[in-house]
Amino acid sequence: MPRHSRITGTGSYLPPRRVSNAQLAAELAERGVETSDQWIVERTGIRARHFAAPDVTSSDLALHAARHALEAAGREAADIDLIIVATSTPDMIFPSTACLLQAKLGAAGCPAFDVQAVCSGFVYALAVADSMIRTGAASKALVIGAEVFSRILDFNDRGTCVLFGDGAGAVVLETSDTPGILASELHADGSHAGILCTPGTVQGGKVLGDPLLKMDGQAVFKLAVGVLESVARSVLVKAGRQDSDIDWLIPHQANIRIMQSTAKKLKLPLDKLVVTVDEHGNTSAASIPLALDHAVRGGQIRRGDTVMLEGVGGGFTWGAVLLDL
Ligand code: ACO
Repeated sequence: MPRHSRITGTGSYLPPRRVSNAQLAAELAERGVETSDQWIVERTGIRARHFAAPDVTSSDLALHAARHALEAAGREAADIDLIIVATSTPDMIFPSTACLLQAKLGAAGCPAFDVQAVCSGFVYALAVADSMIRTGAASKALVIGAEVFSRILDFNDRGTCVLFGDGAGAVVLETSDTPGILASELHADGSHAGILCTPGTVQGGKVLGDPLLKMDGQAVFKLAVGVLESVARSVLVKAGRQDSDIDWLIPHQANIRIMQSTAKKLKLPLDKLVVTVDEHGNTSAASIPLALDHAVRGGQIRRGDTVMLEGVGGGFTWGAVLLDL
């Protein structure tokens, strides 16, 4: 009998400090950087984001989200035999954030590694965990997206610093007799690396290059709209499903205009679109599992619903996972 994987629990965590657009605009004004609640809401749909305290790391946020997901799945950390963390803001250069999280969870022994695909990271990590479960390499996986993007923001660049936030989301993915993950597809085109990057690195004990996020917003926007439609269609074909089978669409939460345009292209009514970008901002790899957990706990998404997850981000990377919850 073929092995399948299915999500058995979701969890998430936002650091307590919520910063509204008005608060952020006031803080930026002190540095001479001009923005407004109106500009941010009209262009992006973002109203607020959460920022972690300076001593809080991605693995700290991941730990809270992982515990909530384990509780929802009725599992202990000791039951887990695979940990994958998607992050572009790791605690350290090495060891991986997944290994640091594993130590905090007290789940020594199982494989633990990070996936770096920026805002597509969670979709990449989920597809990898699904493959490992289906081949028998794992049976109970923790798959997490965790980010402290506030650490790499240039607060003198109003074109980017108003867009991002911190947070973590997690799922427990387990072996199942019936398919939960129906199909997935991942892509990258490294020739577009320059349109969205944090180019700095460490060499000889010094930071070389600029360690703050750079984005050509319009170039990202144009690419994102195209690939989100094509990858969703491709995954539907692979799964033998149609647009009308999608109960919920959870695209990467970066910009409400990109999300709504994707829903329209897939002929989905906007009430099937899960939206958390208004309250979370763009939390990169954490955005999809955060939105999934909010929709599950809020009673929107129920067991058995068909959900399309779609990631897009730096790399340039993109991908989608279609699943029955
Ligand atoms: N407040 C006020 N004015 C601003 C701000 C701000 N925060 N930011 C930019 N502006 C100004 C610009 O200076 C410009 O002014 P000018 O016309 O006088 O030169 C004007 O607003 C328009 O700027 P644009 O950059 O052209 O604005 P645009 O409509 O393209 O919106 C945005 C920018 C929101 C970034 C949009 O391009 C976007 O959402 N892009 C996609 C981002 C995305 O999806 N990222 C996902 C991946 S993220 C990841 O992987 C990490």
